[in-house]
Amino acid sequence: MTNLTGKQIVLGVTGGIAAYKAAELTRLLRNAGASVRVAMTRAATAFVSPLTFQALSGNPVHTELLDTEEESAMGHISLARWADLVLIAPATADFIARLRIGLGDDLLSTVCLATRASIAVAPAMNQAMWDNPATQENVRCLSDRGVRILGPAEGDQACGEVGLGRLLEPQRICDELESFFGDGALAGLSVLISAGPTREPIDPVRYISNRSSGKMGYALAEAAARAGAKVSLVTGPTALKAPRVNEVSWVESAAEMYRCIMSKVPSADIYIGAAAVADYSPETAADRKIKKDQLEMVLTLRKTQDILSAVSALPKRPFTVGFAAETDDLENYARQKLVAKSLDMVAANWVGRDEGGFENDDNALFVCWNGGDTYLPLASKKTIAEQLIHLIAERYHAQNSAKDSR
Ligand code: C5P
Repeated sequence: MTNLTGKQIVLGVTGGIAAYKAAELTRLLRNAGASVRVAMTRAATAFVSPLTFQALSGNPVHTELLDTEEESAMGHISLARWADLVLIAPATADFIARLRIGLGDDLLSTVCLATRASIAVAPAMNQAMWDNPATQENVRCLSDRGVRILGPAEGDQACGEVGLGRLLEPQRICDELESFFGDGALAGLSVLISAGPTREPIDPVRYISNRSSGKMGYALAEAAARAGAKVSLVTGPTALKAPRVNEVSWVESAAEMYRCIMSKVPSADIYIGAAAVADYSPETAADRKIKKDQLEMVLTLRKTQDILSAVSALPKRPFTVGFAAETDDLENYARQKLVAKSLDMVAANWVGRDEGGFENDDNALFVCWNGGDTYLPLASKKTIAEQLIHLIAERYHAQNSAKDSR
């Protein structure tokens, strides 16, 4: 199941070279469980044959406004009513302009005029056309009217130029639609998440760190965004691509992470401490590279500040979730951490076992809170993240409705 399962999407394809990418998009949308009906402008049919879309969507392709046969089967009004979403990908500068002024001179523009469903537009055009004030004004106006603008992306263009104007990759469009159809369990809430390891400097070239990959924290950030939250991620150094969330802040040391989190936490409704913050840091960091001329070397380490405890001790604190990684007696340690750090929830995983953990793509969690616990069995970190986010949303809402009724 994905958020796109069972959704009915009218995919509008307009006449640009990126029209061929709409074929892959159709396939991805269907794989994600959506039903797709493709409506093409006449110019689009010059780039890709309607037959391609018919085969990929499993439905007849709509091209003509006044085709009587098509009108009786599924004309513009029926298509407009059928849609849960009208997605225009690629959208040319010309189509964007026509959408802005409300023209209805072909099938696709008429569907857009007649639909009560949301409209999403993925622009694709030459970078100068995208930059043109007319296009920019049209896009702003559509966005103000609630049309979702997806992209464009930056990079090499078919015309040989480089810049903003490429169609977003089909997978990326699909991901954006997934979050658009998210169930909104965290809609309207701000979620602050820490992720990854920290690096504690010894000198300008050396540091102490740990094996955290950041995968779990990043998956949580994306799952929270899909659940409708405004997400701010504070991350230590990782090899991962930044997730698609509202804000990403990169930090290195535990002290930097502490400062960054404390500056952002006043506006957070929920804090999830998924980072593997170093527990100890060298007391001093040499400002020059330490020479290896000694047989032994002693490093004095000092305990770092516990960010999670600092957050949970705030007078106006967010719903606070901590992580625990243990090699043994997981459930007991997790419950102790819940109390010791005054948390609202602890998510605990084993390390050094087969069940997920640090660098793995999979994870399993024991989750406890005041008055309950549950076990999330081994699954991909994406799945585990979705389940944990839903659990957090459930507990957050339960706690707040209890507060409201007091
Ligand atoms: O006490 P322990 O390090 O096992 O607790 C882990 C939890 O505490 C994680 O949620 C981690 O993000 C958080 N933590 C922290 N600051 C530290 C150490 C751990 O926020 N200095």
